[in-house]
Amino acid sequence: MSLLEVKDLTISFPDKTGSEIAVNELNFSMETGDILGIVGESGSGKSVTSLAIMGLTNPNTKIEADKLVFDGHDLLSLSEREFMKIRGRLMSMVFQEPMSSLNPLVPVGRQIEEVLETHSDETDRKPKVIAIMKEVGLPRAEELYHQLPYELSGGMLQRILIAMAMIMQPKLMIADEPTTALDVTVQAQILRLMKRLNTQYQTAILFVSHDIAVIRDICKQVMVLYLGYIMEAGPVEEIIRRPKNPYTLGLLKSIPRPQLKDQPLYTIPGRVPTLNERPTGCPFHTRCFKAQDRCRHELPPLVETGDFKLRCFYPVGEDER
Ligand SMILES: Nc1ncnc2c1ncn2[C@@H]1O[C@H](COP(=O)(O)OP(=O)(O)OP(=O)(O)O)[C@@H](O)[C@H]1O
Ligand SMILES: [Mg+2]
Repeated sequence: MSLLEVKDLTISFPDKTGSEIAVNELNFSMETGDILGIVGESGSGKSVTSLAIMGLTNPNTKIEADKLVFDGHDLLSLSEREFMKIRGRLMSMVFQEPMSSLNPLVPVGRQIEEVLETHSDETDRKPKVIAIMKEVGLPRAEELYHQLPYELSGGMLQRILIAMAMIMQPKLMIADEPTTALDVTVQAQILRLMKRLNTQYQTAILFVSHDIAVIRDICKQVMVLYLGYIMEAGPVEEIIRRPKNPYTLGLLKSIPRPQLKDQPLYTIPGRVPTLNERPTGCPFHTRCFKAQDRCRHELPPLVETGDFKLRCFYPVGEDER
């Protein structure tokens, strides 16, 4: 049995005029200790997928799936009470903006301790909090324990959030753009920390980013999403070396490369349509350099070959990369 099994997950927002579908029949699974990346531009459905797994979507969200099972729990049938027993203990989440995830009026150490209070009977909690603060690389943990969020730098706050997410040694941690707000050196440190925690505790990580270069740093497997559809998925190194979906190629070409510093940076033409502008056929055809008539009318199926999944009628050829 997989740690997380997602089968035909569809997420939509029903309103008076119909239903806007944000995620379409998403399929993936994760095993203990896996690090899986989800990459895609804004609006591709990365966050709603993460929130659906955590049971944190707001009430206007409709979640349907053939299977949404985590560690033997059927997430579709859990009550909020039952979810609260799992969240923080078996699975946890780290968000992009640490400041908005923390209470500005409560010392950071106390906020980590509250996770322990909720999930364990332990009475001697402070030493455990200090230990995890040191573990995530926070200096002077004893003093820092008493400080308020505004007194810490962005990188330190992100470490606090990771400490909160890791203190119960969960089986799964979902990180939604955890390093996007940080500068590159701090970003690299945070990625290293997450990798170390993954090895040490075998915590699986679902890592969400719009940046495929960051995904490459931390993940072995990646799933490329566009407008709620998996466009391509598989081992990250292979996909970076030989992208088959024109969308993946576009994402890769948009990464700044120092050796090409005299050339203007590539950007994928056009912009991501909103949910109610979604085109018929392949969701990417309006921006795709390979689109043919068929792509405008027919949704390409997601074809699985070994470790790889690809949704495309006209994959990128060797000479087009
Ligand atoms: N509560 C909601 N009600 C209606 N539409 C929503 C709601 N939450 C998200 N959406 C829509 O669902 C789509 C997917 O949103 P999501 O936040 O998952 O994107 P994302 O991939 O995380 O993007 P970003 O990179 O900007 O964080 C978007 O079009 C968004 O506008
Ligand atoms: Mg998001």
